[in-house]
Amino acid sequence: MVYYRRRLDKLRKLYPDSLFIFRDNVSRTYLTGFRSSEDGDGILAVFPDHAELHIDSRYIEDAKKGIQEAKVILASTYAAAFSDIAERMSKLSPKNVIFDPDRITYSGYRNLRKVFSKIKMKPVPGLLSPLRVIKDNEEIAKITRAVEIAEKAFYETIKSVKPGISEKDLEAELEYQIKSAGGERSGFEIISLFGPRASLPHGVPSRDVKCREKEIILLDFGAVYEHYNADITRTFFLGQPTQKMKEVYLTVLRANQSVIEKVKKDVSFKKVDEIARKEIVSAGYGKYFTHSLGHGLGLEVHEQPWLSPRAARGRLKPGMVFTDEPGIYLPNEFGVRIEDDLLITDGGAVALSSGITKELTII
Ligand code: GLY
Ligand code: MN
Ligand code: MN
Repeated sequence: MVYYRRRLDKLRKLYPDSLFIFRDNVSRTYLTGFRSSEDGDGILAVFPDHAELHIDSRYIEDAKKGIQEAKVILASTYAAAFSDIAERMSKLSPKNVIFDPDRITYSGYRNLRKVFSKIKMKPVPGLLSPLRVIKDNEEIAKITRAVEIAEKAFYETIKSVKPGISEKDLEAELEYQIKSAGGERSGFEIISLFGPRASLPHGVPSRDVKCREKEIILLDFGAVYEHYNADITRTFFLGQPTQKMKEVYLTVLRANQSVIEKVKKDVSFKKVDEIARKEIVSAGYGKYFTHSLGHGLGLEVHEQPWLSPRAARGRLKPGMVFTDEPGIYLPNEFGVRIEDDLLITDGGAVALSSGITKELTII
């Protein structure tokens, strides 16, 4: 699979004359396509002319079948694998061996220092981020598929919405529908909230809270497809909403839509947040939009770029995928969030999640 080789080559180009060690699942998945259960299960070592994944017996058969762009080597113990890698790496007299300090435990780091005592180790926080922040076609296809699965699951799930169903039951139904539609799972705990509880941006679904007529329903859910994530929120109504609910809903929708219509490549990360926030502030609800506008989406549910008033310097580039998720949360009343997954192209922003309506929906 040529894209893994391309990603490895880009990494070597970004840090010439360096070697690399990865101890975490996300990095290994990005560079080889293989994911184990735990970060500690596997060592990926990147040499100038090849990469090798050392992995224990629980995964070896799958890894050998699934990985083409790295040598797969059975690790009888990870300590022995490290000694072997360090010995061969030091013979190459590299400028340094780079690792990501954000993706290793403290004791993992201490072990690394011990084994690589003769080589200069260089920590580079967010080592793969410059690559991962721009999605290649393979990644865009997988995210698009994850979104389609989430959308299908959503429509199947809302058939079950009726008075008396609990937040927890609706969550369970959605999780089932995601798997049934071809997803691995939701990539995060589904948020299923009714009525006043929709004002909790990341509330936990309750078994005891049952849906009632004239209530707002907020569902924030994803789907994982070949390790890539969707992240979507829709808010809708069981029975006729109040005037205030309608007004708040339409304000959030305007904020969400203005981002889709106005952002394009080279817009700054801060500006993206500002475009949405302006709509909510001018409607008088500014202090109730309590989180940032969005975040990058890919192998992780939350990754670069961060779209917030405090965002680091940086601008949108074609290939970036991020969420557009404004919300208004009125404590003890109700909350509304609308979340889409956007792709930046040369022609502007494309909402990958346009398959689920955002019209004010009453069921
Ligand atoms: N589902 C978590 C989020 O929207 O960021
Ligand atoms: Mn979400
Ligand atoms: Mn999100």
